[in-house]
Amino acid sequence: MLRIRNLDAGYGALTVLQGVSLHVDAGEIVAIIGANGAGKSTLLRAISGLVRPQCGRVEFAGRPLCGMAAERIAGLGCLHVPEGRQVFAPMTVRENLLVGGYARPAPRAELDERMDRVFSFFPRLKERRRQTAGTLSGGEQQMLAIGRALMACPSMLMMDEPSMGLAPIAAKSIFEIVARLRSGGLTVLLIEQNARAALRLADRGYVLETGRILLEGAAGDLMANHDVQRAYLGKDYSRIDE
Ligand SMILES: Nc1ncnc2c1ncn2[C@@H]1O[C@H](COP(=O)(O)OP(=O)(O)OP(=O)(O)O)[C@@H](O)[C@H]1O
Ligand SMILES: [Mg+2]
Repeated sequence: MLRIRNLDAGYGALTVLQGVSLHVDAGEIVAIIGANGAGKSTLLRAISGLVRPQCGRVEFAGRPLCGMAAERIAGLGCLHVPEGRQVFAPMTVRENLLVGGYARPAPRAELDERMDRVFSFFPRLKERRRQTAGTLSGGEQQMLAIGRALMACPSMLMMDEPSMGLAPIAAKSIFEIVARLRSGGLTVLLIEQNARAALRLADRGYVLETGRILLEGAAGDLMANHDVQRAYLGKDYSRIDE
């Protein structure tokens, strides 16, 4: 579904991503793990057209995306749920969802149907549909950010740190949502600081270090990898060495 070859991308003269190649097959959950500043968010921005790639190829559903405007990429069904949610705080839940639908314009009746689907997935958002987004809890705002992307009928969701800043129970419910989305047929590219939770959920993963892919493999293999354990899963090796 998504295929990236030798991607370089960054900001002005700064090249953050260097020679990144990866793919995501239809129906997969693929996790990208990496330290702060590794370039994870830059990677999602380069795919979704918010950052222009310096070189390389990005293909989604067989189409080249490089140079395409962000709204056209979203219109193809490749949707980005950004880091920090970025909901429109003064607008209501309903209004935020309607804005999400603009990426795939449709008559009002169809937008209402899409919203009903989002509400059946997130009953909590239905209860709060008239509340302004800025007054939602962090977990509710994350649901709204996901719901807003679902309004554009994505075939692939790219989620940037959906559990960031959430209490463990809210984070757990977000991971359950990701699993439900996948069982509903969505393909997911997931970026997470919580590498353990991400790899538990994912089919495959990539480790991004200072803009380069250092390791890739089945999620279980990455979890069993000692370097990954030491750097990202917080295993304490001093005790094992004793
Ligand atoms: N708008 C920007 N202008 C200039 N440099 C930027 C910009 N956004 C990010 N960078 C730089 O690009 C590098 C990668 O940042 P990025 O946000 O992609 O990292 P990340 O892996 O998502 O980190 P985190 O885990 O903290 O979210 C960093 O060195 C950062 O300072
Ligand atoms: Mg980031």
